[in-house]
Amino acid sequence: MGPKKIAVINNKGGVGKSTTSVQLAHGLAKLDFNVLLIDLDGQNDSSLFLGFTEKDYENTFFDLMDPRYPAKLSECIINARENLDLLPNDNIEKINSELHRNSRIDIIMEEILSDLEDMDYDFVMFDCGPQRTKVNDAVLCYIDHIIMPVQVESASVRAVGNIYEYLDELRLSSDLITLIIPNMFDARTNESKANLELLKDIFSDEPDILTEPINRRVKITEAGRAGKTVFEYDEEAADQFFKVLKRVVEKIV
Ligand SMILES: Nc1ncnc2c1ncn2[C@@H]1O[C@H](COP(=O)(O)OP(=O)(O)O)[C@@H](O)[C@H]1O
Ligand SMILES: [Mg+2]
Repeated sequence: MGPKKIAVINNKGGVGKSTTSVQLAHGLAKLDFNVLLIDLDGQNDSSLFLGFTEKDYENTFFDLMDPRYPAKLSECIINARENLDLLPNDNIEKINSELHRNSRIDIIMEEILSDLEDMDYDFVMFDCGPQRTKVNDAVLCYIDHIIMPVQVESASVRAVGNIYEYLDELRLSSDLITLIIPNMFDARTNESKANLELLKDIFSDEPDILTEPINRRVKITEAGRAGKTVFEYDEEAADQFFKVLKRVVEKIV
C-alpha cells in the first residue's frame, strides 16, 4: 500500500511548520509507526530540531536527483530516533533549479523517491519551506494529506485561504487539507482567543479539520534549540502534541 504521505505546509514563515513536523514525526515513531521525515526547508530547522547539523550528513536529498548517478535513498537517510529516519537537504536552491529544468512537476517526486516502494515506512512527512516554490509544487503533487499549522494571530489567520489558492493553481483538490493546527495559542490574551474563534468560524462547515490549539510555551522553543523533541524534553508540551497526534492517527491511518 505504501506509506501515507503528508506535507506540513503554510506559506508563512515562523508559524511552526518545522516544529509540528518534528513533533508529529517523533510522536508517530513513538506509537511504533515507521516514519521518514524529509527536510525540504532551506533553513534545515527540522534537522536541527532533531539535533543534526551539516557535519552529521554526507548525502542529502539533492544526491537523489543526480541525473547520471542518483544515490539510493538508503544512502541519504540518517536514523534520527527509534522508528524515525531523516532525509536532510543541504541546498534548497540547487534542488529548486534542478526542478525548474523538469517539465513533469506532477510526477517528479515519485521518481526521486521511487526507492520508498521497497522500504517499509508507514508515514513520510515533508517539512516544507514557506514560499511557493518548485519544491513545494512537487511535494504537493505527491502527497495525500496536508497538515497546516496556523499561528493564532490575525495576519496568519487571515492568510489561511492562501493554501486553497495554491492548490487551485496546481489543479489539486482542497480535500488534501486534512488538519489545521492552531499554534502558539495564548489563553491569557483576548486577542489570541478572538483569533482562535475567527479560525473556528472560518471552518465552521468542517469542524473536523481543526485540532485543539497548541499553546505557546517556552519549553517548545527550548526543546528545538536543544535538538530534542517535546517527548524528550517536557511532559506538558508533549501532552499538547499528543492530542494533535491522536487526530492525525484517527484521520490518516
Ligand atoms: N507552540 C509554540 N510555543 C513556543 N514556541 C514555538 C511554538 N511553535 C513554534 N515555536 C518556535 O517558533 C519558532 C518558529 O517555529 P518553526 O517551527 O521553525 O516555524 P516554521 O517552520 O513555520 O518557520 C521556532 O523557534 C520554534 O521553536
Ligand atoms: Mg521551518
